[in-house]
Amino acid sequence: MLADRRTFLKSLAACGVAVAGRKTVAASTQAAAHIEVLPEEPIGAILPEIYGHFIEHLGGVIYDGVWVGPDSKIPNEGGIRKAVLDALKAIHAPVVRWPGGCFADSYDWRDGIGLAAERKRRTNFWGSADSNAFGTQEFLRFCALSGAKPYLAANLRSLPARDFYEWIEYCNSPVGTEGARERAAQGHSGPYDVRYWGVGNESWGCGGNFTPEEYAAEFCRFISWVPQYGHRLNLVASGPHDYELEWTRRLLGAVNEKHLLGSVYGLSLHYYTWNLSGGATTDWDLGKRDAVKFNEMEWYELLAQGDAMDPIIREQWAVMSESDPRHAIKLVVDEWGAWYAPGSGLGPKYGLSQMLTLRDALLTGLTLDIFHRHADKVAMANAAQMINCLHSLMLASEDKFVLTPVYHVFKMYVPHMGAQAIRTEFGAPPVHYDRLSKTADFWGLNGSASVSGKDLTLTVVNPHSSRAIQTEIVVRGASIAAGSGQVLTNTDLHAHNDFQHPDAVYPQACAVSAGGGRVVHEFPAASVTALYLKLA
Ligand code: AHR
Repeated sequence: MLADRRTFLKSLAACGVAVAGRKTVAASTQAAAHIEVLPEEPIGAILPEIYGHFIEHLGGVIYDGVWVGPDSKIPNEGGIRKAVLDALKAIHAPVVRWPGGCFADSYDWRDGIGLAAERKRRTNFWGSADSNAFGTQEFLRFCALSGAKPYLAANLRSLPARDFYEWIEYCNSPVGTEGARERAAQGHSGPYDVRYWGVGNESWGCGGNFTPEEYAAEFCRFISWVPQYGHRLNLVASGPHDYELEWTRRLLGAVNEKHLLGSVYGLSLHYYTWNLSGGATTDWDLGKRDAVKFNEMEWYELLAQGDAMDPIIREQWAVMSESDPRHAIKLVVDEWGAWYAPGSGLGPKYGLSQMLTLRDALLTGLTLDIFHRHADKVAMANAAQMINCLHSLMLASEDKFVLTPVYHVFKMYVPHMGAQAIRTEFGAPPVHYDRLSKTADFWGLNGSASVSGKDLTLTVVNPHSSRAIQTEIVVRGASIAAGSGQVLTNTDLHAHNDFQHPDAVYPQACAVSAGGGRVVHEFPAASVTALYLKLA
């Protein structure tokens, strides 16, 4: 098997095609590129939770985005926007994180329970007043209606450990406790069985400015002896951002000293894609560049910066092994996505909202592909944020609602959920682009594959702004009998869906011609493609 692959790569090397993520250079006589899927090299099951979401009390995410209120004329189910529920069901949304973000470490969960009319208005972390109309039970009802599991983020900065204990009791205790009584008084007698609990958020920053050792001490105090009610809670520690390896090293080292690593399910990782390398300004906001008005360099730069998710996962994972050599703790990438300069969003009320273009569809595809290629390491990921904020799948304002290109990629990738990720080699001519008077390179094609029985899903991103790539696809040790596909692209790199043009970027069916057990397929310029192949 290995010899076969070496021969294959050698044949590519003869023709000038770069293998994504490797130094190998290769090409072919008929096709410009090759993809070889290797079913005998499984990586791990793609946990559906990798397709998770995140909603925070920030701008128009909750109020207007998710929650319109039961008396609204906007179609709703008990106050929850129906269009959001329908969209989430169609992509089998597996999990939603709430209530923050930075908001979580200022939030008192008790403000959001009990009779709606009696709830207190509180100053929100992001500067507005929060009515608390959307609280724990509204969120858990939203999860039940959409089919997603809840992932609650607990306040570690400004509430004592006792509150964490009692929030768990409120959500999960069977009858016979004060928590269960309060829950029943609001109409839900049975336990919710919430399994995913984050303990603090960005505890190195808005979550308390802790050192890793200080946070570790708090974390251990919070999680020690919390009630489990017969089911192990999946406790997530507030982890690093980007390449911040010292946080990981020192935090896990300190938790290990207290012999509590065995209680930790996941380590959160936050990585936002900021287009900061253009060099024009160091201003925090403007430096992130516009979401819609960008040049070719910025197209590639953003994708290249998003692609850093791959080495970040590798490096964080390597450091995690220093304290956890058997890797019982997985990565939970509970905030990821593109973050642009203000200006393209829905308006002042919708803080951190921005337009999502075709470029963000490619970023979504390449990021989900990275998660698949690290299916052994990543147990959950949550795009930040689901609606009206940063890397959103949906935009909504009063009675207007639209699905973004990001949403369409999530939908095209659904067959990967729960399937077995398998290693796949991509060989394609690299892209060269001008970057501040120098030439920079980026891979020509990349993606991921997964298999479930005889169904193979192959997803591929072609980042080239103007070049389609004719590609030969083979599956080592198997032949492809038939296939179908979907492609998301547009001749305008800046294309996006807004309320007036909801279908400007929409997936199209694409024909797949299987012959002689292989497929030759043309991946259009600037595209995300999903091929659904049947193995013989
Ligand atoms: O998603 C917006 C903010 O980004 C979150 O509240 C915070 O966790 C991160 O810094």
